[in-house]
Amino acid sequence: MSTTRADRTAIRRTALSRPVALALDDGFIHQERTFFDYGCGRGDDLLRLHKMGIPVSGWDPAFFPDEERTPADIVNLGYVVNVIQDPDERVVVLAAAWELARKVLVVSARLDWEAADAAVDFQGDGIVTGKRTFQKFFTQEELRQWIEQALDRPPVAAAPGVFYVFRDEADAQSFAVNRVSRQRRIPGIEKSQALVADHKELIEPLMAFVTERGRLPVDGELPAAPQLTAVFGSVARAFSLLRRVTRADRWDRIRQERRADVLVYLALAAFPKRPRFGALPDELRHDIRAFFGSYRSGCTEADALLFSAGDQDAVDRACRDATVGKLLPDALYVHHSAIEHLPAVLRIYEGCGRQLAGAVDGLTLVKLFRRRARVSYLAYEDFDRVAHPALRSAIVADLKRLDLHFRDYTRSANPPVLHRKELFVADDYPARQRFASLTAREEKMGLLDATSTIGTRDGWQAALAEHGVSVRGHRVVRDAPDARP
Ligand SMILES: C[S@@+](CC[C@H](N)C(=O)[O-])C[C@H]1O[C@@H](n2cnc3c(N)ncnc32)[C@H](O)[C@@H]1O
Repeated sequence: MSTTRADRTAIRRTALSRPVALALDDGFIHQERTFFDYGCGRGDDLLRLHKMGIPVSGWDPAFFPDEERTPADIVNLGYVVNVIQDPDERVVVLAAAWELARKVLVVSARLDWEAADAAVDFQGDGIVTGKRTFQKFFTQEELRQWIEQALDRPPVAAAPGVFYVFRDEADAQSFAVNRVSRQRRIPGIEKSQALVADHKELIEPLMAFVTERGRLPVDGELPAAPQLTAVFGSVARAFSLLRRVTRADRWDRIRQERRADVLVYLALAAFPKRPRFGALPDELRHDIRAFFGSYRSGCTEADALLFSAGDQDAVDRACRDATVGKLLPDALYVHHSAIEHLPAVLRIYEGCGRQLAGAVDGLTLVKLFRRRARVSYLAYEDFDRVAHPALRSAIVADLKRLDLHFRDYTRSANPPVLHRKELFVADDYPARQRFASLTAREEKMGLLDATSTIGTRDGWQAALAEHGVSVRGHRVVRDAPDARP
């Protein structure tokens, strides 16, 4: 008989749990979908979702044993499997939660790097803490493999310690393609044209469609298509008129960007195995036909890129060729918002890391290693507000060993700090000019000369003190004479 207390693992939550917040953010949980929390603890997630108008229910053997276990669109199994001591029972619970999930099962568990703080007394494959609770700590890859073996489905990493399992292959692929697709703004109308102006309500949905997908709609995809055909002769003619009153190069760029996004998706979809063309969502099949002619030629192009992403010399070359990011001898560092501006090979290289890690909390920079198959996800202090933010944590995705490592810098007395922030971001990043002006000033004052010491907070503070200056906001100011050491 187990002497540990699983019920004591349920904490009071002051915000949504991470897996539920992710599933909400990723658009899986909403008012038109039912949500079931399997092992809901004290039910705090349920209460919060209920207040948002989401139809919820849940069950927990310790807190809500009399509730029914009912099927739902989204089922959450949040930090339950790691508190179950018996490995066979863990699998039974996972399978039972999956049985209930009509669309997506969200599975989370604590990871090995969280084990550091727990009082250790080994029992079975886990530990018993001071509160006499059992905890099995997984590695990310162990958790992924365990879910896959138990359910015979490839889980998708949503974040460290959190996986999604999709009932329909098409939903899994939609999620995968959305993850690599960028957000774009609809090009503005610059010249007047009476026909376009008179039919704005028909033209606008067409503009929105082409901006989102980078191609013209096929039959049935755009509800306004019959009216557009009646007024302009065809959807294609409406669009060609639209090109004349907007900047045509913007549409060409949108098409190229969208094509690149789908190509990156196709490359990454090879892990673990590319789905059949028929299993893809309809709109993605239309995208592939429009951009590559056929699934086969899209996959051939994607395979060539995938091959390059696995070739460290090609990765290094791409790092050197990249037009965004700060290039250092070991790696290219890029702000997360600029990943879409990287060459396709590097987007795939980064995507391999992302498939291991999923979304990373507080992500600021991505570090693409030039000589080792590794991608790190770095979280810094407020990147926009703090002039020289300090590193808080790093998650390293090891693409060879297929695993994650975590490093916490929050308690470090002398953490690394950033300089020259404009180098990490794309040209259109809103604060870029502010960053660049600060760098110019710091360079002029010789503050950035001592490259071997200013990379950590103490070294940087020493350089500032030596020059008798401080940085306030994004400005360098002279210290008052009596403030100098
Ligand atoms: C760490 S708590 C997590 C609670 C909640 N999901 C959350 O994230 O706040 C683990 C919960 O798993 C429940 N639990 C333990 N054994 C279980 C089992 N066999 N089936 C379902 N839930 C179980 C416990 O009662 C406890 O409430």
